[in-house]
Amino acid sequence: MTSPDQKAINDAAAILRDGRLVAFPTETVYGLGADATNADAVLAIYETKGRPRFNPLIVHCTDQSMAERFAVFSPLARRLADAFWPGPLSIVLPLRPGHGLADVATAGLDTVAIRVPDHPVALALLRAADRPLAAPSANPSGKLSPTTAEQVRKGFGGRVPVLDGGPCTRGVESTIIAVDGDRLVQLRSGALALGEVEAAMGQEVARAAEGAAISAPGMLLSHYAPSARMRLDTAPEPGEAFLGFGAAPDFAGTMRNLSETGDLHEAARNLFSMLHELDATGATTIAVAPIPETGLGEAINDRLRRAAAPRD
Ligand code: TXA
Ligand code: MG
Repeated sequence: MTSPDQKAINDAAAILRDGRLVAFPTETVYGLGADATNADAVLAIYETKGRPRFNPLIVHCTDQSMAERFAVFSPLARRLADAFWPGPLSIVLPLRPGHGLADVATAGLDTVAIRVPDHPVALALLRAADRPLAAPSANPSGKLSPTTAEQVRKGFGGRVPVLDGGPCTRGVESTIIAVDGDRLVQLRSGALALGEVEAAMGQEVARAAEGAAISAPGMLLSHYAPSARMRLDTAPEPGEAFLGFGAAPDFAGTMRNLSETGDLHEAARNLFSMLHELDATGATTIAVAPIPETGLGEAINDRLRRAAAPRD
């Protein structure tokens, strides 16, 4: 695996402390990081991505004790964090009074989404910067999320320094769960399957209803959009590019297979990279094989449906 040395990490940390942006790897996708306590730095994230200001950011922390400086953890929230941090889970919690985070990072809400990433480079950067880092996926708003440093460079045309930690092992964004009293509510499906959370916590996790009071403001329908049109749950037609899953049909055109053995973890890891690759071939339409809606399939299908949604 590629890995930046400590000097590269210290240099990147100095850039962050100076209020500028650095893109860095996490186990899910690459993040576009800024010091979450610096309003101007956080505003630069929104500007660089072209992201609507009403869409709050995830605040990345080195560990639970750093997270406790910014959010109020109930015993249930603490148990959830213990079970899955570091890892691909963002937890939405009430902001702690005197938290010191820039209001723009939370888009003025009274809650904050926090996660401790499970990636040596991300953790080393957080420690060296000694700041919480606000970091959305490191792609222009509405485009495919990046799972390699090269995709980040392409997306921002080299305007942002990138720490290269090799390809992301999970490949889809973190699962977002809000702790609401004694209830757990999933706001976004992601790299941590709901079943795993339910098994570890011994309780059901509700799925946020569309337009519910508790929701992730960022869940716009058209998102993760490639330039090509997408057709889901189908076999390919001549002239189309094809994204397969499991035993592949006999197809002469350009194709990638998310997982020949039908492994959903492998499929998640390959999802954005293969969409980037097929899109780069200039295909006008990408047909996508059916993918089971179980386990990680929920997050994969969610990203595919958004990629296929009509856009203006
Ligand atoms: O895996 C990930 O989560 C990646 C890596 C870089 O950590 N980050 C990521 O961030 O996916 P982003 O900005 O693309 O997605 C953040 C999501 C948005 O849907 C946003 O609405 C939601 O988190 N969110 C943030 N703060 C929230 C809050 N206080 N309440 C509800 N939703 C929140
Ligand atoms: Mg994103």
